[in-house]
Amino acid sequence: MSDYAVRPITEAECRPTFDLLVRSLHGNPPPDERWERVRESWTAEGRTGAFHDGEPIGIASSFPTTLTVPGGATLEMAAVDGVGVRADWTRRGVLTAMMDAQLHDFAKRGFPVAALHASEALIYGRFGYGVATRMATMQVKKPAPLREGVAASGRVRLLSTDEAIETIPALYRRMDSGRPGAIVRPDLWWPIAFNWHLYADGGNHRVAVHTGPDGDDGFAKFHVVPQNTYLDPERGAALEIHDLHAANPEALAGLWRFLLSVDLVEVVNVRGRPVDDPVGLLLADPRRAQTIGVDDELWLRLIDVPAALAARTYGAAEPVVLEVQDRMLPGNRGRYRVGSDGVECTGADADLQLDVDTLAMLYLGGWEAGPLALSGRITGANAETLARTDALFRTRTQPWTGTHF
Ligand SMILES: CC(C)(COP(=O)(O)OP(=O)(O)OC[C@H]1O[C@@H](n2cnc3c(N)ncnc32)[C@H](O)[C@@H]1OP(=O)(O)O)[C@@H](O)C(=O)NCCC(=O)NCCS
Repeated sequence: MSDYAVRPITEAECRPTFDLLVRSLHGNPPPDERWERVRESWTAEGRTGAFHDGEPIGIASSFPTTLTVPGGATLEMAAVDGVGVRADWTRRGVLTAMMDAQLHDFAKRGFPVAALHASEALIYGRFGYGVATRMATMQVKKPAPLREGVAASGRVRLLSTDEAIETIPALYRRMDSGRPGAIVRPDLWWPIAFNWHLYADGGNHRVAVHTGPDGDDGFAKFHVVPQNTYLDPERGAALEIHDLHAANPEALAGLWRFLLSVDLVEVVNVRGRPVDDPVGLLLADPRRAQTIGVDDELWLRLIDVPAALAARTYGAAEPVVLEVQDRMLPGNRGRYRVGSDGVECTGADADLQLDVDTLAMLYLGGWEAGPLALSGRITGANAETLARTDALFRTRTQPWTGTHF
């Protein structure tokens, strides 16, 4: 028997569990005044703690949102964040116990999917989470004029901090991209993940909005970091883009045109773009844009495999029968016939076998089946079956979330 208890936290346990989380990430717990602001979004709801002698030793949090899946349907999703174990209790199964409790709680509350961003890549696969979307880090060296012929309609304006806080959440809501992997940003997300940067460091993050023929249709949040030094006084600054969303290609081109035109800037950096971001193609000299790296973005967990599989659409191909394994939620184990006409549980022979984390990798269309088979994640399939799986699961655009939590 373990010497700790895993259970939902109470309101009185909010501050000690927040302090524990901050310490596990090597930060300093906030002073009273800052805690008062954090407190608004750090309520007991959706938080599972581990306790020893009444003291918190672990925390795993979540909030409800929705996930867009291929075909445009949305699924209720538990977004997992705020996970940490006290340093003197790690590697004793505390996270495993909290994950187990959380997954069963999500299942009981009817969430078909859960998702998270992982601090390290080796932690969450064992709990059935798979990398469902990836993100690119890009750099554009200036000067980087756009090609002639790139749409030039629309106008970009800078907002004041108050205007940005008031208008961007509604603009983001209106810009439903329909892209697989997109999530709704709940009200609680904005103060911590967006507004905070507009005030931090003297409020040096700026927000630009693009207006097209039908009104505001895109925005970018960015800040400029000086790079000049005593020995290199002429050196231009780096413009770092933190949040860039557009409702249509013209708005995206208009925002890039603006961001690449800001004076006294030598280089524009952006992390967290979709891997099919077209910025290189927009430039007169495509080599001015480089993808510096591609990282995992959203780790997806299928909590209710039949419901999740039924929610998305599939390409035109003969069906495949998947045999799914799930160590933590055994109700998901079984064979599923997936075809362009839908999904059903079946007793037919399986075409391939895979674990639930690998199914999550296929689910939003972010990976081809071939490399998943090569890496031993998919077994029992021949080349024809893998091609059929791709034809069913592939999506028109690369999946992307674009919202960190
Ligand atoms: C990551 C963290 C939550 C893991 O908690 P924990 O209680 O030590 O995890 P567990 O003891 O339940 O580990 C379960 C398994 O995962 C492995 N594991 C856990 N953390 C790991 C890591 N960072 N890297 C590699 N493997 C890890 C353990 O070795 C163990 O493997 P085993 O089952 O084969 O023995 C904890 O180390 C921590 O708080 N880290 C700092 C904050 C952080 O990164 N939080 C996550 C934010 S997304």
